[in-house]
Amino acid sequence: MTYASRAVASPRVINIEDLRSVARRRLPKVIFDYIDGGAEGEVTLRENRLAFDAVTFRPRQAVPLSPASLGVRILNSDLALPVVLAPVGYSRLMHPAGEVAAARAAGKAGTAYTLSTISGHRLEDVKAASAGPVWYQLYIVGGREAAEEAIARARVAGFSALVVTVDTPIGGMRERDIRNGTLELLNGPPWSKLPFLPQLLAHPGWLTHFLLDGGVPTLPNVVIPGRGPMLLDDARSALSRTAVTWQDLSWIRDMWRGPILIKGILTGDDARRAVDEGAAGVVVSNHGGRQLDGAPATLRVLPEVVTAVNGRAVVLMDGGVRRGGDVVKALCLGARAVLVGRAYAYGLGAAGEAGVTRALEILRADLERTLKLLGCPSIAALDRSYVDGSTR
Ligand code: FNR
Repeated sequence: MTYASRAVASPRVINIEDLRSVARRRLPKVIFDYIDGGAEGEVTLRENRLAFDAVTFRPRQAVPLSPASLGVRILNSDLALPVVLAPVGYSRLMHPAGEVAAARAAGKAGTAYTLSTISGHRLEDVKAASAGPVWYQLYIVGGREAAEEAIARARVAGFSALVVTVDTPIGGMRERDIRNGTLELLNGPPWSKLPFLPQLLAHPGWLTHFLLDGGVPTLPNVVIPGRGPMLLDDARSALSRTAVTWQDLSWIRDMWRGPILIKGILTGDDARRAVDEGAAGVVVSNHGGRQLDGAPATLRVLPEVVTAVNGRAVVLMDGGVRRGGDVVKALCLGARAVLVGRAYAYGLGAAGEAGVTRALEILRADLERTLKLLGCPSIAALDRSYVDGSTR
């Protein structure tokens, strides 16, 4: 057992906030803030959490219960718990095993992993690492030809859904990243990295891993015809040149016959549009408060989207989920399952696969306990009658 995996297995790591603290200790500030931060004044980032706090439970007491069932079926896959790992770009900077470790941990926990286009490991290796379903999140960063190749590879590798993120016509203004000079660390000539030396040397575990892994990775799933894999630091500027629009969907559907989820939906109108365009589901998401600051908390818009979709497609949500109780609240308000981003990214940064496993264990144990305290026999039985709160 490595020092890092011992740290996350410690009995003192009892919730996701504790994992966040371990990640904060282990990672250089420039990497920790990349995970932790949001856009501009981080209003939406905070709102995502506050919305969960504003919803309270209406428990049913003294109900006889057998062990709660946490399973859920989504897009023809049976998941052991209603928590899917969200796409988290640049995961290989958090830990060298990055996306492979996260996918493996998800599979072992019986749930799905979503691989970001902005990933440092080959999509084939990520799929092979997981015993569970793996979804591919699409950006058209390298242009249509690169996207077509990635989609074809994902199909052959056995990815079971395509997640098209539509809230990123330009990268959000992540002020922490700009202040920290994150792009200079990834980009820039060697001497531009000198100011980072003190924080990098103060985290020898991370630095050793990073150097042994060969430094900043390229993007092996964004292969530019005639040029090879895109450089990681080119991705941000490329995003705004090739934003996904509704017009792209029929082209995407022609290449991908499996289920498509549209991620980044915040209104009932857009949800209806997504379903009309053939989406099998939508993910209510504000990108974890990293894109449009001032966008509403996802939990608050979830009921509007559920009403608009009206059972025609699956509704998932993400943003601010840090406890199993949050998952239960989202399900009570109509989500079939949630995605988590930071909750597992902290674990990944803290200890690689062991940290992601710990994050999922924490959420699973929370879920079981919350259902029992609520007097609810299963995930499937959750509905609005179990909550009271400002989003109702
Ligand atoms: C993200 N997110 C994201 N989404 C996406 O579609 N493609 C991506 O490459 C990324 N990259 C990314 C990096 C990091 C560090 C974070 C924290 C998030 C957004 C992610 O999929 C999800 O929507 C949010 O993380 C959900 O909010 P929480 O769970 O982090 O609060």
